[in-house]
Formats: sequence, C-alpha cells, structure tokens
Amino acid sequence: GPFDLIVRNAKAVTAADVFTCDIGIRDGRIVAMAEGLEGAAREIDAAGRHVTPGGIDSHIHLDQPTGDGSVMADDFLSGTRSAACGGTTTVIPFACQQKGGTLREAVDDYHRRAEGKPLIDYAFHLIVTDPTPEVLTTELPQLIAEGYTSFKLYMTYDALKLDDRQILDTLSLARREGAMVMLHAENRDCIAWLTEKLLAAGHTAPRFHASSRPMLVEREATHRAIALAELIDVPILIVHVSGREALEQIRRAQGLGLKIYAETCPQYLFLTADSLGCDEGFEGAKCICSPPPRDAANQQVIWDGLENGSFAVLSSDHAPFRFDGPDGKRAHGVNASFDQIANGIPGVETRMALLWSEGVCTGRITPQRFVDLTSTQAARLYGLYPRKGTLAIGSDADLVIWDENLELILDNAMLHHNVDYTPYAGRRLTAWPALTLSRGEVVWDGTPQGTLGRGQFLPCDRPAPAMARRRHSELPL
Ligand code: URP
Ligand code: ZN
Ligand code: ZN
Ligand code: ZN
Repeated sequence: GPFDLIVRNAKAVTAADVFTCDIGIRDGRIVAMAEGLEGAAREIDAAGRHVTPGGIDSHIHLDQPTGDGSVMADDFLSGTRSAACGGTTTVIPFACQQKGGTLREAVDDYHRRAEGKPLIDYAFHLIVTDPTPEVLTTELPQLIAEGYTSFKLYMTYDALKLDDRQILDTLSLARREGAMVMLHAENRDCIAWLTEKLLAAGHTAPRFHASSRPMLVEREATHRAIALAELIDVPILIVHVSGREALEQIRRAQGLGLKIYAETCPQYLFLTADSLGCDEGFEGAKCICSPPPRDAANQQVIWDGLENGSFAVLSSDHAPFRFDGPDGKRAHGVNASFDQIANGIPGVETRMALLWSEGVCTGRITPQRFVDLTSTQAARLYGLYPRKGTLAIGSDADLVIWDENLELILDNAMLHHNVDYTPYAGRRLTAWPALTLSRGEVVWDGTPQGTLGRGQFLPCDRPAPAMARRRHSELPL
C-alpha cells in the first residue's frame, strides 16, 4: 500500500484547528490526512482521541557539566526516553561554552555525549559565556550557518554571566546573522549582595534561595535585557519568566511593537516559594530553581499569559539533579546552605500532561493553544518548522495520541528520568500520552520503545521570528 502506517480516527489538533481524519505515514513523514485512507502495512486506531504534534521541549539540560561538583542525572538516553514517555518528540538541550574554551569544542563535546544515545530527535542551543572577537567574527557565524541558530546568554551565575557590553556585542552579531538569542534575566549583583546578607544572618535553609532572588532582580534584568535588545534593534526571547513583574516588562515592550518573545515553565504554574520549605528542613532543595517559583497570584498571571498570547512557549527547563547521593542536590553536604545547592528541577516528562490536565481539561486553554505553546511556536522560534511542530503533509510523523478522563496520581515511580523525585508527586492528572510516535515509530505505548541512538540531530534554519526589523536607525550597528 501507499502507507507504512495509518493512524485512524484521529481528532487531529494543530495550532489553528481541530479536525477528524486519518493520518497516513510513509518513510517517517505524514503524507496524507484525509477521511477513509486505505492501504497500510499497519494501523493504529486513535478511536476519536485527540492527536497532537509531538512536544518540542526547547529548554532542557542534559549531561551538562556544572563545574561545581554536582552532576546532571540525565544524559541523552534517560533524558530523551523520559521526554518520549511524556509525549515530547524533539528536545533542544544546550551546548555550553567553557570560559576560556571555544564554541566549537563545546559543540564537538556535546555531540560526543549524545553519540548513540538519543531516542528522539534533538537540536542544540549554544550557551555563549566568552564572546571573544574570534567567537564573534568567526566561530558563531560558522556555527549558525551549520544549524546552531540560537544561543542563550546569562546575566547571572559567575561561571556563565556576560556583562552588558558583552551582551550588546553578541546581540549585534545575532542581528547580523539572524540568530535567536535567549536571555536568562536576573541581576547578578543583587543576588550576590542578598545572599551574603542572608548567610551572615544564619539564613541558610533552602527557602532562603527564594529570598535571595526576589522578583525585582528578575524584573530589573528583564527590563535591561529588553533595553539592550531595543538598542541593537534585534528580537530576543526571555526564558523562564516566573511572574507578574517580569511579564509586565515584556508586555510593555510587546506593546511598543518590539519582537520580545517569552517562555515560561510548569514550575511557575504549579509550585510556589513555599515549595522550597517553610522551616529549616532540606526537602525544599528539590524545588530550588532560578528564578524561584513565586506565589498563587503570580501563578495566575502566568496562566493568563499562556492564555492571552504573552508567552510563546512552555518548556520544562528540565535540569536534573538527584536529591540523595553524593553528586546531586547534596553534593555540598546533606544540609548545604541554599547558595551551594544545584539549581534546577526535573520536568521533561511531566510538562505536556500537566498542561493538558490543568490547562485543556479545565478549559483554561484550547487544545490549539496547547499545541501552539508546547510545539508549534518552539519549532518556529528555533528554525525547525515545518519539519517539526505541526501535523501537516510533509512534516515528520511526530505525534501523540492522548488518553483523557484518567484519574492518575503522579508518582516518581511512573517516570523514566534518572532523578529520584518529581516536584509534582501527589498531583492529580487527568491526561497522559497513550502513544508517542517519532518519525512514524512508536517510542512510547505504555512502555518506552525504540532503539538506542535512533534520534537524529536536527540542524536548525535561521528562525523567521529572529529576523530584525528593517533598519530605521542611524546607529552603525
Ligand atoms: O535553575 C535553573 N533554571 N537551572 C537551570 C539552568 C538555567 O538557568 O536555566
Ligand atoms: Zn536560565
Ligand atoms: Zn535552563
Ligand atoms: Zn480533556
């Protein structure tokens, strides 16, 4: 027959539409969407269930060296397996430049780390920590041409941060080359000053992590990042936005017509600063991430932003550290002070189901908006569309058949990451992927499937949303 596989009776969801059809797949791609398709070696009956594009998790850390004695628990095998089981079919982890090292070394290193492991397709964002003249004039332009068309810049963390001058240089390069810049916006000096005062007062418990990074340090850096981008007149994306004050800066800029994109993450919908603890206990270390989760009012602001289009993407910011053991959250001691605890929480497997359960099933967002936030816009922003990010003729057959009306209590034992906890344990879910297809192959059907290393590296196009406005300024940028 004309097809390798037909997914029959799908309630297909794209960012624009919901429609009933059969999906014909050949050679890993969608080649037909119509009623009454015939002629396949194999059929899967979706039985009228929602079928969405596979998720694109465009912010995930896998096997990334931290340099502080902690070790990420997920590599390109466990991380991509966990992703697939949760309905994600593409991940974009980071290749981080070591200070004093080159970006090329970073890219080669991460390709070696991935070698033979990924179960689903992957691309790389770069992290630029040392924008030397060589990096800006030679390396980055070459890497962008090779398909590394997005990079993250940090405004905090001493091992990673750039100063404003370096950010301007790098934004200027991104403008010339058409790359997408992601900004981690927190004010480094405010955090360092507050941390010193808190520690001096004996406030060392995990919950003081949130006190050391109040919303204003995020608001200020978000404002500054936008101002720097406005000066260069280049689009940017602010990652992991945690609440109202940062989002207000973004909406103001969007209202002025600037191309400022924003990302948020499940931790800002489902956790609060109280998740870091209300006493001196260490348990709250599980929820230490930066920026920290805020409060219920800010959760509502994030929901509103997902609904009304302020946010382009919901990613996980999966940053996997084990709670117990010598190299995770306790790498600096079983009761390490908050500034010594690895930042980040796991979430690559739970992202899609949390948003479907609490967003779609509750009626907060439409299935179309769900697809836009978890897949389509990430594909556009990072140059993977339309190979990824939609259900369309010619797109890769990456899709999820959803089980709904479930009564599921989330438990870490259900998950396939290599982390010994989930911050969402005990939460009730009403939906979970029944089946995940990656390029037409089953990678999850209740158990993980697929051969090691079957995931392909995806070179990214220069993203259309990164295109700068036509020059209107006289500045010689
Ligand atoms: O705490 C976090 N988010 N850790 C991961 C690294 C980052 O800044 O995204
Ligand atoms: Zn970050
Ligand atoms: Zn991150
Ligand atoms: Zn539902």
